[in-house]
Amino acid sequence: MTSMTPTAWDDPLSPSSSPPPAADLALEPRLPEAPAVTETPPAETGAGATGLEALEMGAARIQVDDKQIINCRADLNQLVPFKYTWAWEKYLAACNNHWMPQEINMTADIELWKNPDGLTEDERMIVMRNLGFFSTADSLVANNLVLAVYRHITNPECRQYLLRQAFEEAIHTHAYQYCVESLGLDQGEVFNMYRELPSVARKAEWALPFTQSLGDPNFQTGTFENDQRLLRDLIAFYVVFEGIFFYVGFSQILSMGRRNKLTGVAEQFQYILRDESMHMNFGIDVINQIKIENPQLWSGEFQQQMIDLIMEGVELEIAYAYDTMPRGILGMNAPVFEDYVKFIANRRLAQIGLPAQFPGAQNPFQWMSETLDLKKEKNFFETRVTEYQTGGALSWD
Ligand SMILES: [Fe+2]
Ligand SMILES: [Fe+2]
Repeated sequence: MTSMTPTAWDDPLSPSSSPPPAADLALEPRLPEAPAVTETPPAETGAGATGLEALEMGAARIQVDDKQIINCRADLNQLVPFKYTWAWEKYLAACNNHWMPQEINMTADIELWKNPDGLTEDERMIVMRNLGFFSTADSLVANNLVLAVYRHITNPECRQYLLRQAFEEAIHTHAYQYCVESLGLDQGEVFNMYRELPSVARKAEWALPFTQSLGDPNFQTGTFENDQRLLRDLIAFYVVFEGIFFYVGFSQILSMGRRNKLTGVAEQFQYILRDESMHMNFGIDVINQIKIENPQLWSGEFQQQMIDLIMEGVELEIAYAYDTMPRGILGMNAPVFEDYVKFIANRRLAQIGLPAQFPGAQNPFQWMSETLDLKKEKNFFETRVTEYQTGGALSWD
């Protein structure tokens, strides 16, 4: 299999990939050959370009300052010149992280799962419920990206990353299917859990409205209200869904791996979490860049709405911890997870410039911060070259 060096879990609060300051975003005067590119996108005419417009022969060449994350009128088929180098860097890093589920050895997992004394009922429930949640959650994220988000992000380097992310979501769904197949689980039970088991269903149900409006073919950005809606929906998916809803389940499975139980499943989850960490950080960069380019969207009222949105997510994730773990296992129990979710939520809030809602919340899983995403915040890009390579092994310490 390809091997990977120990992981670089990034969770930057002030990443070197931060969007450029607003002062850098002054627009160049527009050229007459490209009349659609205006200093201020006309709100009443709605969306920016799609990339599928008729070719405009002889139009002025694209300049960096023509580019914007949303409502951009410049040609979307030209990747360069780069404006958002953080998006391109993440695309390159994601490609260096390429992995496939079938590269991971599942032999010990199969033996352990089939051994009646191999795992407790509580441990089996955790595995089943997490496969139930994640197996459909990744499809939901992929569908949101491809059918809703992509259309409204009017920047080629960000779209390049979105295409990579979409493929990674497909790999993740493949990975869960591969776990189900390897362990001989009931695939109907696992893949239907998100509409049969309330604790699994609630998080997907919560997220659905945040993709439906963007996926509506009549929805267009370009008005204050719709631009705010896009920003809200990006926060719902990147900050809450990928940034909070994945963390209880990942910690549960990774902790089993650390105890040499289902190490193959755990390794699949660890690769997935590394990808997810980058998805979330890309989304946060996009959100912060939209804020910079459209400061009017980030009103006090809207900020409070986003705090409320994130708090709803926190409540659901805490409920998920109790549902998946009614009794403690492996030295972990639901109340400890409650602390963990609050700690994670404070970080997510800070990453998009909102105040902490759980002052003093501590990370109860120091091992997660060591393996996961909390140590590399200052030097992510410095370590990327050595830590993000195609071909290195994950290690469990
Ligand atoms: Fe995923
Ligand atoms: Fe993702």
